[in-house]
Amino acid sequence: MTSTSDTVIANRDPSAGLTSRATTHGGEVGPLRHLSVERARLAELRWEHFDVRRLGATVGAVISGIDITTDLADDVIAELRRALFEYKVIFFREQPLTADRHVAFARRFGELEVHPFIPGNAGTPELVRFEKSAEVGGYENGWHHDVTWRAVPSMGAVLHAIHVPASGGDTLFCDMYAAFDGLDDAMRAHLCTLDAKHDFMRAFGRQVPAERREEMREKYPTVVHPVVPVHPETGRHYLYVNRFFTDSIVGVDAQESADLMAMMFRQAELVEYQCRFQWEPDSVAFWDNRAVQHYASSDYWPEMRIMERASIIGTPPSR
Ligand code: SIN
Repeated sequence: MTSTSDTVIANRDPSAGLTSRATTHGGEVGPLRHLSVERARLAELRWEHFDVRRLGATVGAVISGIDITTDLADDVIAELRRALFEYKVIFFREQPLTADRHVAFARRFGELEVHPFIPGNAGTPELVRFEKSAEVGGYENGWHHDVTWRAVPSMGAVLHAIHVPASGGDTLFCDMYAAFDGLDDAMRAHLCTLDAKHDFMRAFGRQVPAERREEMREKYPTVVHPVVPVHPETGRHYLYVNRFFTDSIVGVDAQESADLMAMMFRQAELVEYQCRFQWEPDSVAFWDNRAVQHYASSDYWPEMRIMERASIIGTPPSR
């Protein structure tokens, strides 16, 4: 390569010699080296009953060669369950689920919850229906775990695409193990000692009629969960605060709480921890609601987008 005398060729690795990422305008750049271990581990996995194509570095896999509209054998369900915990979110194409088959598939993984705030499918209350159009815009475009305002939040959710816009309306998922593992040792140790308060009012307050707020507050008091629970199946730590439902960090002053939450919310925004799924009619996403947060891109208005979600009851988050 030639250079003129006033040109400097920047041909050295900019991260060479740095022990961590570099800061520029308050944001960090540089390789997220910790992802390599999980990425390599996932690359070694082999499956008996289906094929897998991975989507993100450490999160997301498209499963093929399987028909989830049928009554699958127990060993296939057990293998899907393992795949869910490994890839954190799994996707399927061309699965024309009826409401009954959707519920039947999700029930193989546990009891289903009924959402008290989001309208359900008319005949099947276990299915939350997200029906978006020119009249009702998509408001799920914030990073969140589902229902962390419950004392026992869901362990996972099965989302079926019924009608999708011509373009847009993707859903993004973030690996919250990687988000935690990417913090430095001192911060990880500190966060493991903290609890956070979660409150349905933050997201649903405006939608609940004033005369019913007291009743709903009694049914769903604010709850406290560890900031970093241990996943009951994988034994791994994950970050468990989100922009939709987390109100504050317990036992610290308001400024420290706001600063810690802002830092943790930003972790979910790092694209290296994410995968992005483009929907087609009858695509299905099944996410582990502890291991990932999700974000439904709201870029398709005024087009129509209709999805239905079954949520599987989990266990109380614990350390
Ligand atoms: C949700 O937040 O559960 C909805 C996700 C989506 O509509 O893609």
